[in-house]
Amino acid sequence: MSRLRALLMTAAIPAVMSAATQADGPSRGEVLASTCHACHGPEGRGSPPLPPLRGRSDLRTQLLAWKSSAEASGDAHLMIRFARGLSEADIDALAAYFAAKDAP
Ligand code: HEC
Repeated sequence: MSRLRALLMTAAIPAVMSAATQADGPSRGEVLASTCHACHGPEGRGSPPLPPLRGRSDLRTQLLAWKSSAEASGDAHLMIRFARGLSEADIDALAAYFAAKDAP
């Protein structure tokens, strides 16, 4: 699992982020959200034990708190490391994307 996590941190995020800079096609929030779906279930519907992300209004607060967490990167909780790879604009786009979806 740690190898998978390392791979996600180093490979998947930059690939998704560069895809997200393309002008047309799916919204930035939708493209970024596809990385979340890998763990949090298709369309952010949750994949036990991971909670759903759809319909949540606290994602911006949560992701910003993780991003600014002082926890050392080596020991940091997975989502802290994930959030550090996101810009504030990415976080806004993700929060808007999931908040606009009906809760599962
Ligand atoms: C590599 C797998 C993985 C990916 C990808 C992932 N997450 Fe997570 N996420 C987790 C795990 C594991 C937890 C549970 C952490 C814990 O409680 O210790 C979690 C927890 C969360 C929580 C806290 C939920 C709660 O109610 O406590 C939020 C919010 C969240 N993730 C949002 C996101 C968003 C947004 C994305 C996409 C940018 C994302 N996650 C991508 C694995 C992942």
